[in-house]
Amino acid sequence: MSENQTVQPEVNETAAKQPDVTVTVRPNGPFRVEGVIKLVDAQGNAWNLEGKPAISLCRCGASANKPFCDGAHNKVGFQSQESPVPAQ
Ligand code: FES
Repeated sequence: MSENQTVQPEVNETAAKQPDVTVTVRPNGPFRVEGVIKLVDAQGNAWNLEGKPAISLCRCGASANKPFCDGAHNKVGFQSQESPVPAQ
């Protein structure tokens, strides 16, 4: 290679498209959030999520520990199983 040639960094496109955070819509249950996130209230106060690689956020409204899921969705019979509509 001559001194005038530049080296382009190798780009791993698959890795570049990987999100840092994954939110999984659990059937009849919470949103499971995996990855490094900051969770704040309406005033910007952050919950301490140190050491937690994943959290579950209540979407049924029945948790006594909102915004986190405490399993109450099972007791109240929460039903919801959304999936994305396939692209056409
Ligand atoms: S989703 Fe689990 S308590 Fe609401």
